[in-house]
Amino acid sequence: MAVDLLLGLQWGDEGKGKIVDVLTKNYDIIARFQGGPNAGHTLEFDGIKHVLHTIPSGIFHKNAMNVVGNGVVIDPVIFRKELDALKQFNLDIKSKLVISRKAHLILPTHRLLDAASETAKGKAKIGSTLKGIGPTYMDKTGRNGMRIGDLELDDWKEKYRALADKHEAMIDYYNVDIEYDLAELENEFFASVEELKNLDFIDSEEYLYQAQKSGKKILAEGAQGSLLDIDFGTYPFVTSSNTTAAGACTGLGVAPNQIGEVLGIFKAYTTRVGSGPFPTELFDDDGETMGRVGNEFGATTGRPRRCGWLDLIALKYAVQVNGVTELMMMKADVLSGFETLKICTAYNYKGQKITHLPYNIEAENVTPIYSEMKGWKEDLTKMSKPEEFPSALQDYIDFLEKELEVPIKIVSVGPDRTQTIHR
Ligand code: GDP
Ligand code: IMO
Ligand code: MG
Repeated sequence: MAVDLLLGLQWGDEGKGKIVDVLTKNYDIIARFQGGPNAGHTLEFDGIKHVLHTIPSGIFHKNAMNVVGNGVVIDPVIFRKELDALKQFNLDIKSKLVISRKAHLILPTHRLLDAASETAKGKAKIGSTLKGIGPTYMDKTGRNGMRIGDLELDDWKEKYRALADKHEAMIDYYNVDIEYDLAELENEFFASVEELKNLDFIDSEEYLYQAQKSGKKILAEGAQGSLLDIDFGTYPFVTSSNTTAAGACTGLGVAPNQIGEVLGIFKAYTTRVGSGPFPTELFDDDGETMGRVGNEFGATTGRPRRCGWLDLIALKYAVQVNGVTELMMMKADVLSGFETLKICTAYNYKGQKITHLPYNIEAENVTPIYSEMKGWKEDLTKMSKPEEFPSALQDYIDFLEKELEVPIKIVSVGPDRTQTIHR
C-alpha cells in the first residue's frame, strides 16, 4: 500500500486539519512528518471547534492510529495541554497515539532563543510563532539536539542541563531584554515530560514499514505550506523544515517510491501570517472582506492573517515541487459576494513578464499581473453537490484545473466536516 500525502500549497492555514479529519475514514494511520506546535490545525464537527498543534488530525476517529513522526519537533508542555484539551472527549488516546523516538524535543530555552533571535532582528524579524521551532531544528542539524528516545535513558536530565546551559549563554549573547524564570519553565517542562512518558515511544519508521507491508493505508499530514519550506519557500521568511513532499520521506522514513497520491490543498484566495513577501497581498476593502468573512486569524497565535488574491504562479510552483496529483480548494464560500475575482497569472519581474516563481519575490521586484473572472453572489455554505455550484464558481474551478493540469477533487464551502463537496 502506498503512502498518500496531504500538503499545504501556500503559506499554511489552507485547511489541512479539516481535510485530514474528513479523509481519515479512508485511512488506518495518520502521520505527522514535520513542524511542531507552530502548526494550528482546526477541525470542526458537531458544533465543536478543535485546534491541534502537534497531534495528528485523525485523533477523533475511533479506528485510526496517529503517529508523530521523526521529523516533528515536540514541546512536551504544549503537547500536554493538547492532551488535556482532549480529555473531555474520552478518546482512549494511549491506544491511538504513538511518538517516534527520533522526534526532537523543544526545550524551554529553545523558545527563549526564538524570542531572543526575533527581538534582535527587530524590523527584519521572521514573524515566528515563537514556539522554538528554528532553534530546535538548528540543534538537530547541528547534532546537539535531544530526542524523545533520550527520555528513556537514565541520564537524560544531565544531557538536558548541558544543552540548556549552553542555550542560556547564547541568549546572553543576543543581548536583548527578555525576562524569564527558567526554574519555573523547567518545572513545567519536567512535569510535562512525565506526562508524555505515559504514551508509547516507538521506532516509527519500522512501525510504518510493517503497517504498510500488511496493507494498512497511511496518510501523511503536512504542516505549514510549500511557500514556508526551508528550501523552496520565501527564504528567510520560512519555517525550519521541509514542508514539501520530500519532507514526508525524511520525516517518516518512507521511501520515495512508496508515495502514492499527493493531495495538495489551497485556499480559493491567499493568506499569510508573519513577515515576508506576498505579491498578491491586498491592503484594500477586498482584503479586509476576505479576512473578516474568512475569519483569518492564526490558530496558534491569534494574529490577523494577511489576505490577497489567488497567486497561480506560486500555486503552480507548489504543484510542481510536490508532484501534486489531486487538488482541494478550500474556503470557496468566502469569495461569495465579490463582483469580480482576480487571479494572478503572471508577474511583472523587473519590467519583464514572467510566469514562474523567481528567486526573489519582494515587492520591489515583482508586481502581479491579474486575469479577472466574474464573481458569484450565492451562499455556498449549505450546498452539498457540485451540480448546485453557481456557473461563475464552476468557471473559476475550470480555469484553475486547466492552468494547473491537476483535478480539483474537493471544494470546501465552510469549516464544518459536512461542508465538503467531493467532485
Ligand atoms: P491548517 O493549518 O491548514 O489546518 O488550517 P487552519 O486551521 O489554521 O486554518 C483554516 C481555517 O479555516 C480554520 O479556522 C478552519 O476552521 C477554516 N476553514 C476550513 N475550511 C473552510 C472553508 O471551506 N470555509 C470556511 N469559511 N472556513 C474554513
Ligand atoms: P499550519 O500547519 C501559517 C509561519 C510563521 C512565520 C514563519 C516561521 O497551521 O499551516 P516558525 O514558528 O515556524 O519559526 O515561523 O512561518 N508559520 C505558519 N504560518 N501556518 C502555520 O502552520 C505556520 N507555522 C509557521 O507565521 O511567518
Ligand atoms: Mg493553521
